[in-house]
Amino acid sequence: MSKVLVTGAAGFIGFHLSQRLLERGDTVVGIDNLNPYYDVSLKQDRLAQLQKQAGFSFYKLDLANREGMADLFAKESLALVVNLAAQAGVRYSLENPHAYVDSNLVGFTNILEGCRHSHIKHLVFASSSSVYGVNKKVPFSVQDNVDCPISLYAATKKANELMAHAYSHLYHIPMTGLRFFTVYGPWGRPDMALFLFTKAILEEKPINVFNSGNMQRDFTYIDDVVEGVVRAMDSIPQPENGESTKLEESSLVPYKLYNIGNNQPIQLLQLIEIIETCLGKKAIKNMLPMQPGDVPITYADVDDLIRDVGFKPNTPIEVGVERFVNWYRSYYQV
Ligand SMILES: NC(=O)c1ccc[n+]([C@@H]2O[C@H](COP(=O)([O-])OP(=O)(O)OC[C@H]3O[C@@H](n4cnc5c(N)ncnc54)[C@H](O)[C@@H]3O)[C@@H](O)[C@H]2O)c1
Repeated sequence: MSKVLVTGAAGFIGFHLSQRLLERGDTVVGIDNLNPYYDVSLKQDRLAQLQKQAGFSFYKLDLANREGMADLFAKESLALVVNLAAQAGVRYSLENPHAYVDSNLVGFTNILEGCRHSHIKHLVFASSSSVYGVNKKVPFSVQDNVDCPISLYAATKKANELMAHAYSHLYHIPMTGLRFFTVYGPWGRPDMALFLFTKAILEEKPINVFNSGNMQRDFTYIDDVVEGVVRAMDSIPQPENGESTKLEESSLVPYKLYNIGNNQPIQLLQLIEIIETCLGKKAIKNMLPMQPGDVPITYADVDDLIRDVGFKPNTPIEVGVERFVNWYRSYYQV
């Protein structure tokens, strides 16, 4: 049993992770600023589910609030930190770059400082498949070069990995970065394709299909992501088996990076067909060009994850989409 700080607890992944940690008897301190990037009532409804359970406490707090974050770390005796709060979304990073700097850079610095001053046993933080940019070699491996992000979102996620490595090196704090690949499932995000497509098809409105559907994503079911996060939390990197690829002395750094992806990319048009089958309704497709910042494929190499935590995501897309659609219909009563 541990006391765990989950940032972004009212968010999609943070909500599911908090549920799972409470089920296994951990105490969860959740924080979230409940920002209006997408429907706040969905965040509040997720939070209401968590607040019914013993062992959960919540602070409405912004990661970028330096004093508030320092107070939180001083007040709560935290053992572990899982940082999931961030400004997510590739396209929105072209519209509102400052939101990414505030949450993902300033906010992440406050997380690192909190860990530094509070003897945290392990910081696990969300990175993203978007750090691979338009890399040609697939599947994407954590050993590949990721120095060419093509969106500010991706650049902030890569920056988080570098900042964490520096703090892990300087202060010997174990840290693990997780590159998530297109996470989907019940209580999922309204700004993502599966949600947008399901909603539009049910409302008989057209869906926007970028790059005429010529895109592949390694869609990863939420329960698999949570399983990967929990196993990574419990597998605290030791200096001798830490990251050793870049600096000679970095074999002393208790720092690890993993991909958490399904290892089986799906064509966008195939995703649409699966949703159509689940809904029993055809989509009206509005074919559009590629969006700036978007990448044509994501495909995770998960060999390191299997080797170190003994798990790889394995939920078939048809099963996961059906569970999402069932949740969507019941939550929105359609
Ligand atoms: N869902 C995916 O497909 C995916 C893929 C790759 C990476 N990620 C990363 O995983 C993490 C969780 O993603 P998610 O899908 O649950 O997103 P989400 O937007 O549903 O959850 C993030 C939560 O963090 C909160 N938040 C944002 N900025 C904050 C701030 N400054 N202070 C406090 N709270 C703040 C938001 O209100 C939200 O509830 C993010 O770091 C995201 O970048 C997600």
